[in-house]
Amino acid sequence: MQIVILENAEAVATHGANVIIQKIKQKPDAVLGLATGSTPLALYRKLIEAKRSGDVSFLRSRSFNLDEYLGLPGDHPQSYRYFMQENLFNHIDIEPGNTHVPPGNAANPLKACEEYDELIETTGGIDLQLLGIGRNGHIGFNEPSSGLTSRTRVKTLTPATIEDNARFFGADEFQPHLSITMGIGTIMDSRKIILLATGDSKADAIRATVEGPLSASCPASALQMHKKAVLIIDEAAAAHLEHKEFYKHIERENQKLLQSLKQ
Ligand code: GLP
Repeated sequence: MQIVILENAEAVATHGANVIIQKIKQKPDAVLGLATGSTPLALYRKLIEAKRSGDVSFLRSRSFNLDEYLGLPGDHPQSYRYFMQENLFNHIDIEPGNTHVPPGNAANPLKACEEYDELIETTGGIDLQLLGIGRNGHIGFNEPSSGLTSRTRVKTLTPATIEDNARFFGADEFQPHLSITMGIGTIMDSRKIILLATGDSKADAIRATVEGPLSASCPASALQMHKKAVLIIDEAAAAHLEHKEFYKHIERENQKLLQSLKQ
């Protein structure tokens, strides 16, 4: 696992956006795995800016989102499909038909989960998956105890996650307790993964991800087994890492090596 520790949330968004932009430049029809939550918002704004300035085009790219609330149609303001339209898709040139979010209103959710995994596979697999992380170490909606090789399926949310996400719902509004989420195995099939985390509320989850045991009690720890997983985190999220200075040292050495190879 590569660990990139940056000064603040702004630097995390810039770094993450650059990884995506480079991927699209190198492979214009790349398949992106996308995430919701507040963490990727600044990154999405940077992608929109890059599109507007003519630096990049998403015309041939395809996307698959990690998860969706079960019971919410895509035009519901709290649905993740709606979130993606509002915060990214409506502002870039990606073809609407090339964007995929699990169907929260599927008549048969179990079948829809299988079909989602099949579609990812027939599209060629995910080139670059973007992740956030929950305070309890969840990725997508894979809550603690999720199988480390699980596929896209219906998952029940923990009370902690429901509480964390309650801020997006009105007091009397229906807040689903079920979701459809890519499984940890589905996520792990991606060719490259970047996980963004900012703020001190994520510091314990980041410590468990990097320095804890590989364990279903911290679903993000599965990334320890991925060949190309990069954590892009700010100082606050890195604060509980026991070997933080060593990770920074590794990164400096990596950068030096890359520079010397360029010359
Ligand atoms: C939700 C999403 C996750 C996201 C997490 C953290 O539970 N399903 O994909 O990583 O929230 O969100 P935030 O970035 O708002 O802390």
